Order: sequence, then structure tokens, then C-alpha cells
Amino acid sequence: MKIFLDTANIQEIKEAAQMGIIDGITTNPTLLAKESGKELQMIASEIIHLVDGPISLEVLSQKAEEMLEEGKRLFDISHKHVVIKVPMCEEGLRAIRMFAFHKIPTNCTLIFSANQGLLAAKAGATYISPFIGRLDDIGEDGMVLLENLINIIDFYGYETQIIAASIRHPLHVTQAALLGSHIATVPYPVLKKMFHHPLTTKGIEVFKQDWEKFIQSSN
Ligand code: E4P
Repeated sequence: MKIFLDTANIQEIKEAAQMGIIDGITTNPTLLAKESGKELQMIASEIIHLVDGPISLEVLSQKAEEMLEEGKRLFDISHKHVVIKVPMCEEGLRAIRMFAFHKIPTNCTLIFSANQGLLAAKAGATYISPFIGRLDDIGEDGMVLLENLINIIDFYGYETQIIAASIRHPLHVTQAALLGSHIATVPYPVLKKMFHHPLTTKGIEVFKQDWEKFIQSSN
């Protein structure tokens, strides 16, 4: 499973990229709003310099034709890396179809039902992003949606890739991987938690102490 980082924070991206396990980046207006004082173009260029993979940038226009124009400008930042994030709605679906015609990759965001995902795949979305955590937040089971989408995409052989999004904790990542999600986009704090296990920490400490004992005894 590919792992994307769900952030627009350059420091987080730098640190995660050094680990060598980041395959791409997803941003959204809320994440960008946390990076005050910087322009989108500058943030995107910095990200592209750090991560050699797709980076999702979201359009905010309301009409499909305007989304297309806005998306084309974003795409010009880097044809190799930029993916246009388009919200799930009628105009968004029309826009995804137009982007597909122009061979511009898209990530259909804010997917909360299997039917929405099916429509986005049919429209030609490169990626679809079911929001797992936000469904869990309202008492639904985000993983059921993910599983349904994986089955639909697989059954009909759509080329669309699924990004498990709105990931809240490491268990979400494990579950997404077990279900066969193509990608999970993970916030940096969740990624850091994925490295840790108390028994690993304890084990490293015990091995260190025993090694020191061994060195002392062999002197
Ligand atoms: C996905 O691309 C979105 O940026 C993100 O996963 C939304 O997650 P949230 O529910 O934590 O805002």
C-alpha cells in the first residue's frame, strides 16, 4: 500500500520524506490555512522538491468550467506531480470528466458513500478519497465504505485508485492495508505513532544494557 502524507506543512514533509516511505502528498484548504503567510505556489514548489510523487491541490471554484480553468493553472505548477482535487458534487463530476479529457489527473474528494465513489470512478477520476474518520465521527463505519469501494473498483476493473483519507489513528492504516486500499493518506502525528511499540522501545533498551554488560565482561 502506498502511503501519502496528509499535510501542507513543509517541516512535517521534510521529516517524513527523510524516512523514505512517503509516496505522495494530499493537501486541502483547511491544511493550507494552517500555513499562514505562504502562497500556494510556493508551498507546492517546496513540496515537489521534497517528495517525488503525486501532490493533490484542491480547486475551490463552484462551476465545472471554472474548476477546469483553476485546475489547469494548478497543474501548470508541475505536470509531473500535481493532481487536481475536485469535490464530489455534480459540477465536480463534470469537471472530472473534462480533466480526464485533457489528461489531467484528479482526486475526487469528500466521498462518503459507495455511490459517490462509483460515479467518480465512472467520470474518470484518477483517485477517489473516502473520508473514513469523518464517517466514524458521526457513528458510521468508515471501513465499511472503504471495503465497498474496493470491491466495486475491483469488480468492474476501474483504473481509479482509492485513497483511504481522514485517517485518525494507526489502526485505520492497518485496516486500510488489510482491506487492500491502494493508498492511505496519513497525518504526520499518526505516521509517527505507527513507528512505535512499547515492547520495541523496551527491547532496544534491554539489548543496549546487555551489550554493555557483555563488553564489560569481555574486557
Ligand atoms: C484528504 O485528502 C483530506 O485532506 C483529509 O484526509 C481530510 O481529513 P480530516 O477529516 O482529518 O480533515
